[in-house]
Amino acid sequence: MITKSIVKIEQINEIALDTIEMKLKTPISLEEVNPGQFIHVRIGSDHAHQLRRPISIADLDKVNQIMTIVFKIVGSGTEILARAKVGEELDVLLPCGTGYPIDKLEVPKALLIGGGIGVPPLYYLAKQLVEKGTEVTAILGFQAKEHVFYEEKFKALGNCHVVTNDGSYGHQGFVTDVIDIESPEFDYFFSCGPTPMLRAVSTKLENSNGYISLEERMGCGVGTCFACVIPVPGSATDYKKICSDGPVFEASEVAL
Ligand SMILES: Cc1cc2nc3c(=O)[nH]c(=O)nc-3n(C[C@H](O)[C@H](O)[C@H](O)COP(=O)(O)OP(=O)(O)OC[C@H]3O[C@@H](n4cnc5c(N)ncnc54)[C@H](O)[C@@H]3O)c2cc1C
Ligand code: FES
Repeated sequence: MITKSIVKIEQINEIALDTIEMKLKTPISLEEVNPGQFIHVRIGSDHAHQLRRPISIADLDKVNQIMTIVFKIVGSGTEILARAKVGEELDVLLPCGTGYPIDKLEVPKALLIGGGIGVPPLYYLAKQLVEKGTEVTAILGFQAKEHVFYEEKFKALGNCHVVTNDGSYGHQGFVTDVIDIESPEFDYFFSCGPTPMLRAVSTKLENSNGYISLEERMGCGVGTCFACVIPVPGSATDYKKICSDGPVFEASEVAL
């Protein structure tokens, strides 16, 4: 169940260019939170920021009720959030959306493909998969060297390949180029990132089982405003809501 909660900022670090990692202490239990779910953060009360901003859960310490988020400063909302101080409180809705259904899947080997701000939710997913005994290979794509983050964390869990568009670090090109070069073996792929990347990944891996997570713009974040619909050909409604039916979908289910 989604709960409105006041969380306290415990730690703030800039981990890459314009990329902030924030640790948040919650007063409520995080036992029911799954990888791929997100929080919906209120930024302020002025007109420009009436809508909350969705940010994925990047990691969880369920024992100490600490949640980690990682976000990139792209506009005024994330800029204000980045200026918050340790000790300040944030008004959040959590946990939102449906996560990766890994409890229902047999996944001896998983391929995780993240692009930019799509990388954070894959970290908690990777941790959960490794805990289940899955062998994890990650391909992390960024614009350039100064945007790279979490490489060491993924390396601690399995294979990790970094790719940058300009070649300033790791492989040069796109995440799909690394799939060609490395030909990793996997039973399921899990991907999160910008829509053009997800489209390219889904097309390349169309004969494989996989799940993608969409980070589109949202309004209410809880399924009431229809701001986030995505076509789902052949379903009862021909669309689904990213905020409540997703953000995670089977790759073959949605039309990107
Ligand atoms: C389910 C979900 C999970 C997300 N998880 C993360 C996360 O873990 N880390 C993170 O950094 N961001 C994440 N996002 C994207 C994040 O919500 C947006 O970057 C944020 O809302 C932008 O707010 P703003 O006020 O700073 O920018 P705005 O002023 O609203 O917009 C500034 C620029 O950002 C672009 N933008 C706005 N919203 C999005 C969006 N949803 N996706 C891509 N570009 C957007 C706009 O097109 C514009 O160019 C997630 C989005 C969704 C839907
Ligand atoms: S954001 Fe309102 S229905 Fe999804």
